[in-house]
Amino acid sequence: MQLKQAKKEIQTKGFLDIPTSKIDYIKEINRLRKEKNAVILAHYYQIPEIQDIADLVGDSLSLAQEAAKTDADMIVFAGVHFMAETAKILNPSKTVVLPDLNAGCSLADSAPKEEFEAFVKAHPDHIVVSYVNTSADIKALTDIVCTSSNAKKIIDSIPKDKPIIFAPDRNLGDWLIRQTGRDMLLWDGACLVHEAFSIDKILALHRENPNAEIIAHPESQRHLLKVAKYVGSTSGLLNYVKESPAKEFIVATEVGILHKMQQLVPEKVLIPAPVEDSTCSCSECEFMKMNTMRKLYLCMQYEQPAIEIDEKLRLKALKSIERMLEIS
Ligand code: 13P
Ligand code: SF4
Repeated sequence: MQLKQAKKEIQTKGFLDIPTSKIDYIKEINRLRKEKNAVILAHYYQIPEIQDIADLVGDSLSLAQEAAKTDADMIVFAGVHFMAETAKILNPSKTVVLPDLNAGCSLADSAPKEEFEAFVKAHPDHIVVSYVNTSADIKALTDIVCTSSNAKKIIDSIPKDKPIIFAPDRNLGDWLIRQTGRDMLLWDGACLVHEAFSIDKILALHRENPNAEIIAHPESQRHLLKVAKYVGSTSGLLNYVKESPAKEFIVATEVGILHKMQQLVPEKVLIPAPVEDSTCSCSECEFMKMNTMRKLYLCMQYEQPAIEIDEKLRLKALKSIERMLEIS
C-alpha cells in the first residue's frame, strides 16, 4: 500500500483493517525509531511493554521538558491527548503522533472551553493557574500552567495579594490550598481514576499491614490525602519509595506506576490501593491503557494520528506553558 493512500485510509477508517498479526513489534518499533529519527516518550501509567521500549518514561513535567528540547524528527507520545498536544505546542516543527487519538482524560474533559471562558471573564482580577491536564483552549485562557510536580512552586511564585483561579482539579486545588495557605477559587473538575479509591478499604488494608506506608497522588480526595504518609506526583511517589526506609507501601495512584516502581525497589512490597467498586479495574486509567504495542508500531509506521493545532491557538497556549517551564 502506498504511504499516502495508507495515511488517508487511517484518517477515515482507523487502523483496524491493516493486517499486523505476524509483526514482531519490538523489532519493528526499534527499526522505525532509527529510520525515522523518532523519540518515544511514555508516561508511567502506560502498559509495561510500552514503558520498556520508550526512550524516556516520566511524569507530565519531565515528558513536556523532553518534548521541548528533543532533536528527534518525530515525537511518539505514549500517553494521553493533552500530553501529545502540549508536546506539539512546545515543538511545532516536529511530527507528534499519539498511538490512539481517543486517549483523552476525564480531568481535561471536565473543563469545557465556553464555561471556563465565562468563569475566567467573571473574575478578571484573578491569575489563572491550570493543571497541564487541560486542552489547548484552556491553556490559552490560562496565565501559568502547572503539573503536580511543580504546582506548589508555581502558586508560591505568585504575589500574595493576587487572587488565584485554580483549574480544573478540585482535589489538587484543595490540597494546594492547604499546602500554600492561599485561598484559591477552584474549578470543579476531577480525575475518575483518583476519585475511585475506597478510603474504608484502604484503612482496612492498612490495619492488616500496619508497617505499610500509604502514599497518594494529589488528584485523590482529601480524606485519602489526610491519611497518606506522602503525597506527590508520579515522579515524587517513585522517589519517595526509593528514599523511605519503609519496606511496604499502599500506592494510591494509577496502577501502571507499579511497573517502574517495582523495578526501582525490587526488594520492597508494593500494594495497589483498592477501589470502591470491586467489579471494575477502576484504578486503571482507561485512556492511558488505550495505547498498545500494535498501535505504537502503526502510528510510527504511518505517522498517524498526528497532532495538529491552529497556529493562533498554539501561540496563546504556548505562553502559559513557557511561564511554567521558566518557573520550574
Ligand atoms: P503526573 O504529572 O504526576 O505524572 O500526573 C499525570 C496524571 O495524569 C495523573 O493522573
Ligand atoms: Fe486523566 Fe486521570 Fe487518566 Fe491522569 S489518570 S490521564 S488525570 S483520567
